[in-house]
Amino acid sequence: MTEVITNIQDMQRLARDFKRDGKSVGFVPTMGALHDGHLTMMRRSIAENDVTVISVFVNPLQFAPDEDYDAYPRDIEADTQAAKSAEVDYVFHPSVEAMYPGEIGVALKVGRLADVLEGAQRPIHFNGVVTVVNKLFNIVQPDRAYFGKKDAQQLAIIEKMVADFNHPIEIVGQDIVREADGLAKSSRNVYLTEKERQEAPELQKSLKSAEKLYREGERESKIIVEAVTTYLESHTSGHVDEVAVYSYPGLIEQQHIKGRIFISLAVKFSKARLIDNLIIGDEEID
Ligand code: PAF
Repeated sequence: MTEVITNIQDMQRLARDFKRDGKSVGFVPTMGALHDGHLTMMRRSIAENDVTVISVFVNPLQFAPDEDYDAYPRDIEADTQAAKSAEVDYVFHPSVEAMYPGEIGVALKVGRLADVLEGAQRPIHFNGVVTVVNKLFNIVQPDRAYFGKKDAQQLAIIEKMVADFNHPIEIVGQDIVREADGLAKSSRNVYLTEKERQEAPELQKSLKSAEKLYREGERESKIIVEAVTTYLESHTSGHVDEVAVYSYPGLIEQQHIKGRIFISLAVKFSKARLIDNLIIGDEEID
């Protein structure tokens, strides 16, 4: 049975009960508009923990005034149905007023990791993400929390936050879940026009061409970035916002590739900015 909890104190009481009863808690934080990527994390959490909690909360703090906070898809009925079909135990769905009852007195600020890539495009975004994730961790008190690797920069920042703030939580990164044609699942894919939707699988194909170059021994980032950019420009009508090669999870831009890297791209279509990435190479160097 899936139960929807809207009250923060009720959720905290449950979290205390789970601890008292020695039950492990898996947590999947979401902003709703649940898709197969979320469902994969929910199923994994159910397999790995005694209790699974998901949160559905569109966090105003991580949207700039010109972003899609108001338009962000919200359908708690459909999300609850999806959670029920996955057999999630609890859906935590607090109101904005409950989460942010007054003026914010203490805010979190992400350091260097937020200065690049998505963070450079969206300067307040990751401060809002770490603030809400901290609050959610304090409320739900999970043993494990699941985040998608599509938002690889977010995952790296959350891992750093958990280390810096000593949260006793294991962060589990979930591989990107894709449509049959290769488009990475995202709640924002609904913004694509029909033509853009047809072009969108080219994003993954461009990354595959980068992977091929890498496997053939190419280690100059410039060559890989140029190949991906040219591919995207000739196969999509979107504007190529960024193609970059960074170390992962340290997020330092690489000229000459060594260790584990992250090839990241962002393409702006008429109403959606899509991101995709490839993490490659075994050894972490930072
Ligand atoms: O990835 C998301 O959906 C959000 O950034 C998160 C982690 C739920 C925080 O609002």
